[in-house]
Amino acid sequence: MLCRLGRRAQTLAGQVPRAVIRRARGDGDVHEAGSRRGFDRHRRLARHGHGRGRPVTTYYDEVQELKQRYPDRRSAVLPALRLAQAKHGHLSTDALRECAEAIGTTPAYCEAVASFYDMFHLAPVGRHLVEVCTNISCALVGARQVLEAFEQELDVTAGETTEDGAVTLRPIECLGGCGWATIVAVDHGYRTHVQPDDVPGIVQELRDGD
Ligand code: FES
Repeated sequence: MLCRLGRRAQTLAGQVPRAVIRRARGDGDVHEAGSRRGFDRHRRLARHGHGRGRPVTTYYDEVQELKQRYPDRRSAVLPALRLAQAKHGHLSTDALRECAEAIGTTPAYCEAVASFYDMFHLAPVGRHLVEVCTNISCALVGARQVLEAFEQELDVTAGETTEDGAVTLRPIECLGGCGWATIVAVDHGYRTHVQPDDVPGIVQELRDGD
């Protein structure tokens, strides 16, 4: 019996589409990690003056390959949106349309999916992203005051981007670090136990890094 279950589990695991993790770099092109040994390790989005002598594919081609990994083509919408955002900077109307055409669905469907996830941006964002968790654990130890300190330091209201386009500030739901509240994600890296007094230093770090 156990042997039979083991064989079945092995068979099912092989049918689950492999997760695709891509990293945005530079001007928005998408690279596979150099050490990866997957079947598509040499593929890249087209980039001006780059990739000479290597296979170059377009966004559309990339999405066609993604679709083959899923029983339902629309299941590829998340990695396709991720690629579109890396290419366009945010999910503009054009980006959503391009994604929809590549997937074979409607821009409205792509937008509906994208609007559910905090990591997708339907509007332009700054060069840096500061996200303050305001959910219950963080709220109990002063997340609201941390958010207000960022608003004051950056001279924006939460949800806005600074005039120079450097920093977007926004509140966010639980980041999964409740034991280290207040959590602030700075360019997706977590700062723990953040207090209002820490805010000027964090902002200065970002300005120095620009
Ligand atoms: S409530 Fe802030 S990380 Fe969970």
